[in-house]
Amino acid sequence: MQTELRILRYDPEHDTKPHEQSFRVEAEPMDRVLDLLHKVKYEQDGTLTFRRSCAHGVCGSDAMLINGRNRLACKIRVDQLGGKKITVAPLPGLPVIKDLVVDMDGFFDKFKSVQPFLQPSDAPPERERRQSPADRARFDDTTKCILCAACTSSCPSFWAQPSYVGPAAIVNAHRFIFDSRDDAAEERLEILADADGVWRCRTIFNCTDACPRGIHITQAILEVSSAIVGRRA
Ligand code: SF4
Ligand code: F3S
Ligand code: FES
Repeated sequence: MQTELRILRYDPEHDTKPHEQSFRVEAEPMDRVLDLLHKVKYEQDGTLTFRRSCAHGVCGSDAMLINGRNRLACKIRVDQLGGKKITVAPLPGLPVIKDLVVDMDGFFDKFKSVQPFLQPSDAPPERERRQSPADRARFDDTTKCILCAACTSSCPSFWAQPSYVGPAAIVNAHRFIFDSRDDAAEERLEILADADGVWRCRTIFNCTDACPRGIHITQAILEVSSAIVGRRA
């Protein structure tokens, strides 16, 4: 079938503002949007710029606004979008570098700010640090994050206040705060109790709807908020 792909383009060397450009491509129902972007780039306009790597929903590099929702271009299929007309734009709320490529530096700075690495206080054991299946299950959901930014860039609280640490950073803090082998939960909770931390969340749920990994993000944010409150009690 013929599909119209309307892509929001922006080249900082030539454009003063973004503009939409339409391409007609031959598409199969099972093609992913990433396949269509490749067709445009390889067959019609080599200047079209976007990020991708794994093409299988693992690396998190091709999140973009597709038909008005943040999704991974390599996961969403033409048939899931109705097929005839598909709009593609860069992730909202992040500075655009070129076409569909956004500047992720601020996003990763926030991720790093919550200390997303294991910090046990005891000396390393001779073998591995053991953990019961129940303790591992406590944070299983938040281990699935691929840092695609679909959540943070769909959050109205983040749009209104870009200094908000955002759902992705909180998800990654959750992953370590509730890890029985880690001893830096207090420090992370202190960071997230900040004015730009968890209290900026208004439980809008856009983040949870946008997550391509199906992570219960709002629930994770509420668990971190409760841990902060519990610590003060
Ligand atoms: Fe992407 Fe989900 Fe991780 Fe947010 S929580 S960065 S939407 S994988
Ligand atoms: Fe934003 Fe998600 Fe909270 S959309 S307001 S971080 S529930
Ligand atoms: Fe890796 Fe889509 S290209 S997640």
